[in-house]
Amino acid sequence: MYNKLEVEIALLESKAISEIKTIVSLQGLEKIKLDYLGKKGIIRSYFHNLKKIENVEEKRKLGAIINAFYDKLTAIIQERASRLKTEEINLKLQNETVDITLPVRPEKVGKIHLLTKVISEIKFIFAHMGFKIVDGPDIEDEFHVFDALNTPSHHPARETQDTFYLTDKMNNQKMLLRTHTSSVQIRIMEKAKHFPIKIVAPGRVYRNDFDATHTPMFHQVEGLYVDKNVNMGQLKFTIHCFLKKFFASKDLKIRFRNSFFPFTEPSAEVDINYKGNKWIEVLGCGIVHPNVFKNVGIDNTQYSGFAFGIGVERLAMIKYQIDDLRNFYDNKINWLNHYSVHFASK
Ligand code: DAH
Repeated sequence: MYNKLEVEIALLESKAISEIKTIVSLQGLEKIKLDYLGKKGIIRSYFHNLKKIENVEEKRKLGAIINAFYDKLTAIIQERASRLKTEEINLKLQNETVDITLPVRPEKVGKIHLLTKVISEIKFIFAHMGFKIVDGPDIEDEFHVFDALNTPSHHPARETQDTFYLTDKMNNQKMLLRTHTSSVQIRIMEKAKHFPIKIVAPGRVYRNDFDATHTPMFHQVEGLYVDKNVNMGQLKFTIHCFLKKFFASKDLKIRFRNSFFPFTEPSAEVDINYKGNKWIEVLGCGIVHPNVFKNVGIDNTQYSGFAFGIGVERLAMIKYQIDDLRNFYDNKINWLNHYSVHFASK
């Protein structure tokens, strides 16, 4: 037997359930919750009416029914609320999807200029042969660029048409932009306390010249080895090793040609025969002149040495087949993109 309240509540329940099921917004659900379960809601009014019932047994029974309805409705509303929340989140996610198949925006990454790469290739090879990498100042005095290197004051290299002189003097000496990295030899030997000296010095050099084969600034790598009994054979061996490694060619043809530099005796120029039958000059070298040792206070009866000077642009032009020296410096974007390398590569 159902009593009247039970029937009423059963009807109310199915009404509430259908309302809850059809509601699609959390706001709407909140309103239903207030209507049924709120302080002024329907269920409250049933509890209120309970007070009027005198029969304790009857009161307990009806109270249990209302309570059960309250609990059931609370659970159904909670479940619906969590479903609506999930739906809301899913909808949001759907609308906010990121299309991961879209290509990323191109990022501008700087690259290493070919000359920087070639200089590091050269340093790398000599470092493996035990040479220390050093440097010296671009702005020099006449002593380090000329006098100490046994270059007399009437030598044509000292003329202003070849050398950029600065207007300021220092310690009463004319200052200039170094015309070769050989000045670093002098700076290193002046300070040397221990032997052997085994260095390479890469850097910029400056000459008052500008055409297809000359730029007013270019790069050299100077090499110097000083010890007891240093000889021409060691120089040749070192140059051979370097050039074969640099051009990645075991059977590179190399030729030493008699030459003259004021700071070496004997002196040689080195040519290579690279991919073809033309000989191309790549560097100058020789045995350190005794006067140079005298000028830096090294005992030339005990020590001897060899030196060499490499033209970086020239090596780069041969290896990477570039025919105009000015390409290195005119900063054309296509050229730079083509010849530059990414940071990661060696
Ligand atoms: N300094 C020379 C030049 O600029 C190159 C050179 C030749 C350097 C012979 C040397 C050397 O150390 O021994 O043309």
